[in-house]
Amino acid sequence: MKKKKAVRLGRNSSCPCGSGLKYKKCCLGKKRPVGVDAHIKYAKKHKIRLKTKADIQAIRIAGKIALETLDRVEAYIRPGITTDSINTLVHDFTIKNGATPAPLNYKGFPKSVCVSINDVICHGIPGPRILQDGDIVNVDVTPILNGYYADVNKTFFVGNPGPESLKIVRVTRECLKAGIAMVRPGATLGDIGWAIQRHAHKNKCSVVEEFVGHGVGFAFHEPPQVLHYGRRKEGINLIPGMVFTIEPMINLGKKDLHVLDDGWTAVTDDHSLSAQFEQTILVTDAGYESLTPFEL
Ligand code: MF3
Ligand code: CO
Ligand code: CO
Repeated sequence: MKKKKAVRLGRNSSCPCGSGLKYKKCCLGKKRPVGVDAHIKYAKKHKIRLKTKADIQAIRIAGKIALETLDRVEAYIRPGITTDSINTLVHDFTIKNGATPAPLNYKGFPKSVCVSINDVICHGIPGPRILQDGDIVNVDVTPILNGYYADVNKTFFVGNPGPESLKIVRVTRECLKAGIAMVRPGATLGDIGWAIQRHAHKNKCSVVEEFVGHGVGFAFHEPPQVLHYGRRKEGINLIPGMVFTIEPMINLGKKDLHVLDDGWTAVTDDHSLSAQFEQTILVTDAGYESLTPFEL
């Protein structure tokens, strides 16, 4: 083994946790859910940046705006409106609250919110499409407030739902609940995916594999990836201070999908209904706290 040169860690050194900040502006003497050692280990080994108490509070406030936005959307949704008008509502409400909609111009995404109807799994682009009675529609919002991101989505009924719509929305909601219930220090990312997959399959539904949950807070998408399928006890160990989304996309039919020519819209190959629910979850000493909490 090659001998490593010992470098003294000074106040002005780059912080070993990988934040890119000076040590004195970062881990030195900070109140964190876990010690500096864990921060350094998770940064080096997994590229995961754990959050401080102050970071968590900032994400919680961004989460509040995100949830209020979804409440406005829910009150507004009815047959006859366009998905573009949902975009306008989300965009204007986000700006009014001093935040920025993260989707706008993200990797070229042209709108401020994703709106995904029926067989659209995710990343639907708002446009002239008019909501019809019986549609299901997922609305995925991500405000950035003071540099912090919170990511949350729900699937709504338009008018009166049929039995298939009721089923896929119920099962998907239950899948998110089952995934979140696994979150505690010492559990693994694989435990989360396993619980989601088990519930989907029990109900003869399928789990989308191409899109996954993700670390969130300092950026829209951070490590780690949070798969919605997997095996118990596999994957990274959860520790306090981790913040990530769980956002299962569940199909009534087969899991296979294709992306439309717009480069974004993901659709089930068999055109079966697809639903999604998402929350931003913090790992705590006691288990978890949702930073975008709503009843499941
Ligand atoms: N909000 C989505 C997620 O949950 C990501 C949307 S990316 C966009 O990760 F560009 F389509 F907005
Ligand atoms: Co997300
Ligand atoms: Co999202």
